[in-house]
Amino acid sequence: MTAPTLKIENLKLGFNTYAGMIEVLHGISLHIRKGERVALVGESGSGKSVTARIVLGMLQSLKTARISGTVEFEGADLERMKLRDRHHLRGTQMSMIFQDPTSSLNPVYTVGAQFKEVLERAMPGISSSEARKRASDALTDVAIGEPERVLDSYAFQLSGGMNQRVMIAMALANNPSLLLADEPGTALDVTVQAQTLKLMSDLVEKHHTSVLFISHNLGVVREFADRVYVIYKGNIVEQGATATLFDGPRHPYTQALLAAVPRITGGGIPDIDDSASRFLAPLVAHEGFSEKELLV
Ligand SMILES: Nc1ncnc2c1ncn2[C@@H]1O[C@H](COP(=O)(O)OP(=O)(O)OP(=O)(O)O)[C@@H](O)[C@H]1O
Ligand SMILES: [Mg+2]
Repeated sequence: MTAPTLKIENLKLGFNTYAGMIEVLHGISLHIRKGERVALVGESGSGKSVTARIVLGMLQSLKTARISGTVEFEGADLERMKLRDRHHLRGTQMSMIFQDPTSSLNPVYTVGAQFKEVLERAMPGISSSEARKRASDALTDVAIGEPERVLDSYAFQLSGGMNQRVMIAMALANNPSLLLADEPGTALDVTVQAQTLKLMSDLVEKHHTSVLFISHNLGVVREFADRVYVIYKGNIVEQGATATLFDGPRHPYTQALLAAVPRITGGGIPDIDDSASRFLAPLVAHEGFSEKELLV
């Protein structure tokens, strides 16, 4: 049997602060199989982003952070890996999409220059023309109609939605095994968020990428994830296949979370592509838009 893409066991995290030690994760365990899309849901401050950051190795160097437990990536214990090898995983075999694309892109380099840097991580010595061609193809994959213009632009010259698509294209450019998507698109308006999530969803499906999808929007999670973990104050309180968990939540906290999601009623609109409609449904329910409005 092949090792899961990600396996976290008994992960604990505390921060040393002036007010003493703050315990943030109390021994969480979760795993993601190859090609599986797993959601981590929970309220603000419950420990979702820190979990993703530990997987990426971003908290380990922080002097105030105390981490214990194991994190295995494709069967290899990240803590036992040489630091250089662990750093190399970032941007090649695992990558992350953040909530706010504009702040994740470097304002002083063109998109093309940043793309080249990303590709160089996996392909050192790649020629400028080859990098440009690959970047252009990757932008086309995320439905950017004028990839050449975008490659010569700076982040501030592009819309928020376009920046988010650039981020998705960069995160997937080296065909990573694991994508960590932390509240992707929540900084965008709902229409653009739905479109970018749909693009991301199609791409990870095509490449069999495993995904840790962090969100507090349960409507979107329902459409996107195969399996869900519910985190509450640094503890995983429930996990299960998405449909099972949504149909019969056992933990009171999950029940409370679900009770806050409006039910979707009414049929779809026939002239809309079915999958887009499926993706927009939660937004229709949440924000009170009609599907037609969202798709204009
Ligand atoms: N560097 C740090 N030093 C001290 N405490 C921290 C640090 N980073 C995170 N925390 C604390 O850890 C807890 C979990 O933070 P985290 O960012 O993972 O929350 P989250 O679940 O992602 O919330 P949100 O939905 O708001 O993004 C919070 O209480 C936060 O204040
Ligand atoms: Mg967060």
